[in-house]
Amino acid sequence: MNREYSAKVTGIGSCVPKHVLTNHDLEQMVDTSDEWIQTRTGIRERRKADPGEATSDLATTAAEIALKEAGILPQDLDAIIVATTTPDMTFPSTACMVQKNIGAQHAFAYDISAACAGFLFALSNASQYIENGTCQSVLVIGADLMTHITDFEDRNTCVLFGDGAGAVVLSKSLDEEGIIRTELGSDGRHGDILSVPAGGTKLPLTEETVTLRKHYISMNGSEVFKMAVRAMGNSAKKLLEKTGYDIHQIDWLVPHQANKRIIDTLRKKMGFPEEKVFINLQHYGNMSAASIPVALDEAYRSHLIKPDQLVLMVAFGGGLTWGSSLLRWSLELKNDG
Ligand code: ACO
Repeated sequence: MNREYSAKVTGIGSCVPKHVLTNHDLEQMVDTSDEWIQTRTGIRERRKADPGEATSDLATTAAEIALKEAGILPQDLDAIIVATTTPDMTFPSTACMVQKNIGAQHAFAYDISAACAGFLFALSNASQYIENGTCQSVLVIGADLMTHITDFEDRNTCVLFGDGAGAVVLSKSLDEEGIIRTELGSDGRHGDILSVPAGGTKLPLTEETVTLRKHYISMNGSEVFKMAVRAMGNSAKKLLEKTGYDIHQIDWLVPHQANKRIIDTLRKKMGFPEEKVFINLQHYGNMSAASIPVALDEAYRSHLIKPDQLVLMVAFGGGLTWGSSLLRWSLELKNDG
């Protein structure tokens, strides 16, 4: 690609709450079974934040790990972008809270709302600031406490979600590829298949909305499934066509971790080998915007993703929103990593 600078990953980190909520725990809460959940989704357990633990807390820890690895001081950051649909509060943004927590006083900071695809939207923003010379170093975070908007009386949704945060530092590079290209898409016409109906200006929280449990995730699971496979498949295809890479050149597929069956269907549709797909949703469920950066971090720290390898990330979420991003990995794991 013809550009003066590229944005490469110079640090990565993640953080999940300590509390593990297993399928067996959920069996005590709703009419479900470990067998049903594992067969339909691949999920065995997920993490749940403690009361008082906010999105910015996990995001801050993930950010500190990523900054340490990048060898960048917080005050040298030019921007902080947090992708989240579960911000600490309506405003200030979670990004501003992270800025305060880490002491990045020279950065501008804002949140992006693109649900489970949010991390790729944030990555796209950040890489463009670097490619056009606006920024030298940008902190990109995907963080969500999905259990705060999950109805633990609804077996259709409560088995799917978990909490977490992942962060990457993107830095200006003159000679390396870094983020090669990101493709994004949205279709607001189907927003109603996955939403949190109450709590905004359209349906403000009232006693009635709370009684009707409208402040929790509402989802048409089978529609989401079909649309997710179609949108992520088409996005990845377009991305590969535009970048000129062949699917066989991709070393790792790191998809949004919603459901193993969605990933398997997508992989088969793309003709992609199973052993090159990184999956960790069995431990975390769907952490929305955090799922890709946490997966990326684990794949890297497990010595799977190595320098110079090509990583393809694909995501889909409420909105509807979706995206795919191609990245030349640049970090070398130290032995104590
Ligand atoms: N335990 C037991 N039974 C359940 C549970 C549960 N936890 N949840 C639903 N069921 C029941 C339903 O009530 C329904 O029963 P009925 O037939 O008597 O009405 C039945 O199971 C539905 O079964 P299936 O049709 O076999 O379910 P399906 O194979 O569609 O799986 C699932 C459901 C897992 C929700 C699937 O549609 C899915 O994964 N969709 C994608 C949802 C998703 O990932 N959302 C996350 C946000 S978007 C994103 O991140 C991509």
